[in-house]
Amino acid sequence: MNYSPETNQRLIAALTQQFDTFHSDLANRDVASKKMAIPYEKLPVKGIDFDRLNEYISENIQPNLSASNGGRYWGFVTGGANPVATFADWLVTTFNQNVSKGGDSIASFIEQQTLTWLCELFELPTSFKGIFTTGATAANLLAAFTARQYAGDQQGIDVAKNGLKDLDVSIFSATPHASMIKSLGMAGLGQNSWQKITCKINSEAMDVNDLAQALLNSKSKSNIVIASAATVTGTDYDDLVAVAQLCKKHNAWLHVDAAFGIFDRLLAGKQGKTRGIELADSITLDCHKWLNVPYDCGVFLTQHQRLLKDSCHVDAPYLASDNQDVAFLSLGIENSRRFRAFPVWATLMFYGKEGIKDQINRNVDQAKQLAEWIDESTDYILVKPCELNVVLFKPNQENLGLTSQECMDKLNKSGQVFLTPGSWQGEAIIRAALSNWATTDDDIKLVIKTLSELA
Ligand SMILES: Cc1ncc(COP(=O)(O)O)c(C=O)c1O
Repeated sequence: MNYSPETNQRLIAALTQQFDTFHSDLANRDVASKKMAIPYEKLPVKGIDFDRLNEYISENIQPNLSASNGGRYWGFVTGGANPVATFADWLVTTFNQNVSKGGDSIASFIEQQTLTWLCELFELPTSFKGIFTTGATAANLLAAFTARQYAGDQQGIDVAKNGLKDLDVSIFSATPHASMIKSLGMAGLGQNSWQKITCKINSEAMDVNDLAQALLNSKSKSNIVIASAATVTGTDYDDLVAVAQLCKKHNAWLHVDAAFGIFDRLLAGKQGKTRGIELADSITLDCHKWLNVPYDCGVFLTQHQRLLKDSCHVDAPYLASDNQDVAFLSLGIENSRRFRAFPVWATLMFYGKEGIKDQINRNVDQAKQLAEWIDESTDYILVKPCELNVVLFKPNQENLGLTSQECMDKLNKSGQVFLTPGSWQGEAIIRAALSNWATTDDDIKLVIKTLSELA
């Protein structure tokens, strides 16, 4: 097979058929597939015909996928892929650019422009520079690398070159996302290296007085603070102005994980719950969540690009570049990189700030509708007022006789919705996170009907 016009037509016809079937069936299929595996196939020795390959996908793969691209997949924090981003993502594969360094195409320039647009979208100063990552986890890993490099700088240690065995650093956080803890481990700082700051009552946001005390008591040569905007369960925001002031006073590095919470900035502007984020040393954003571009697409931003570069750059004659400004291989984990900025570029170009804001508003309204219904129901208990796009609830045990886990399993088995668990104030609960552009008000009605029927 080669890229002759005939082959291209065959590929596009097959793609059209897969695309149409998948999308026309999306609202009807079970949100979570009931089949998780198919009989194991031996490695083909001679390969198979393309039509047979396509048939195999149609028969065995596509029917057993989840409807995570549809309107009622409310587990984790899951975005759908909007149509324009999907188109752009096809082109990413068609173009197959390696956005490692400039010098051979316009792709690095587009990535730079898209990063600048994201700063404009979220009203962040242009002193924030960064890189597209595979997701928020990879962005948090870059945050750990950069913070570690900063601590090393303070202590005369080049951590990237010489390792961190002599590094003396304390890390403080109230409710870091699991991916941040994972990143601390991967960065060699240790998953258990962070000290917990007390949370405010009925909230996952940090008690800033406790942070003040912890920084004052810290005997370490360097300090790192990891703040949340917002937490994945309670959607709570740390008081970033107060946290940033403390970090400044103690020369501590401030990283803010704003994977999806940054979108509050489109609703409430710079004075909303993210006020102060512009003072952070680094920020994590996630585009495959609420910006609704296909996986895999996160962003790491920092006001200290030099430290990011010190963390990630390595000299190699074959990688030498004239234009270090756009040498993304020196600012991230991978050397060879997908043109993952392109679906974001297309999304921003097509929908504009207003279009994206409308979609965020819609999800927030829908989450509130669901929360109101739960709050009024005698069969379910709303665990916390819904303040953004996540609804936390549990069954009323007396009426339903079900634990949260049992209730969630039944709801997921109905095929009408997919929810994931959480823990609130030590108690098992159910989370519904709405961040998909495709979610309609009818989807909310359907899930409410499913909740009623279960009761
Ligand atoms: C606050 C926060 N940070 C990081 C992540 C990790 O994101 P990803 O799965 O895209 O790596 C998530 C995912 O839900 C999140 O909510």
